[in-house]
Amino acid sequence: MMAGVPLEELRAKALQEVEQAPGLEDLRRVEQEVLGRRSPLTLAHRSLGSLPLDERRDAGARINQVRSEIQEAIEGKRRALEEAERAARLEADRLDLTEVLATWGPGHLHLVTQTRDELEDVFVGMGFAVAEGPEVETDWYNFEALNYPPAHPARAAQDSFYLKVGEPEQVLLRTHTSPMQVRLLLTSELPIYAVMPGRCYRRETADARHRPAFHQIEALVVDRGITFADLAGTIEEFTEAYFGPGIASRLRPGSFPFTEPSGEYEVTCTICRGRGCRTCSGTGWIELGGCGMVDPAVFGNVGIDAEEWSGFAFGFGIDRLVQVRHGLSDMRVLQENDIRFLRQF
Ligand code: PHE
Repeated sequence: MMAGVPLEELRAKALQEVEQAPGLEDLRRVEQEVLGRRSPLTLAHRSLGSLPLDERRDAGARINQVRSEIQEAIEGKRRALEEAERAARLEADRLDLTEVLATWGPGHLHLVTQTRDELEDVFVGMGFAVAEGPEVETDWYNFEALNYPPAHPARAAQDSFYLKVGEPEQVLLRTHTSPMQVRLLLTSELPIYAVMPGRCYRRETADARHRPAFHQIEALVVDRGITFADLAGTIEEFTEAYFGPGIASRLRPGSFPFTEPSGEYEVTCTICRGRGCRTCSGTGWIELGGCGMVDPAVFGNVGIDAEEWSGFAFGFGIDRLVQVRHGLSDMRVLQENDIRFLRQF
């Protein structure tokens, strides 16, 4: 037979092509070429019929042996290529989560939330309960019951976000946590020792010292025989407990419709420790919030006898406190959520 068919050469060439196939597609093509119906090997097998019987058997055996050798090589190559392609696909699909983890680690509470938690802990340690209330309020809770008459200028000072619900300008995002005073006075048994933290809203453009959505914490105490000295003492005790030694509190005259007398609550400037600097405009003091004795008119609005009960309230901005405590020149970092800022706390 095989005069014209150099079987050994055919075998070597086929094995080399199989070995060099770069991908599965190429391998399929090579397989067609070397084993397919028109391959030299198949043609050689077909031409066996023209050989004498004894030669035919011999030559047939050799061709079959070469064929199965090539088939085995193809199978081996196919497994290797499949494995390589699978690995490449996995590599391409891989989401490298370790990069995020290694850089940032797990998340944590926002600085404002951490501060709110700390404040609650301090007040709970002083014997206060924590109460939360709605951020959407009615005019009555936010203003009217707190002794802000309609068209009172102090309402304009708290530019409100009104909601299109019910009568015009009757439903709003609360402008302070003080409506919680009214809610507690209406629903709690006396005496009351409570703090009320939460989010508040005013129509202001965000700047270095303001945010349109901000946080306050408010305290309300109502009992028999509460005096201004209790107010001042509580504020001083809180200031010491929260800021530690070296930071004191002081009260200056103030004015709020729902407290009488009213005061502004100030603490030693935490930047210069009272010596006077740019942050405190050289005064050594920083204003944190308002306070005062519950106005008898408020007691009247909620049906509490002002002859028997008296009380005080104070409230201040948590964001402002964070700014002062950590020396942030611009409050807007608290709402931008830049991870490089947040991860520092
Ligand atoms: N609600 C007042 C404000 O937001 C602060 C305040 C609270 C004043 C409690 C007196 C008593 O400005």
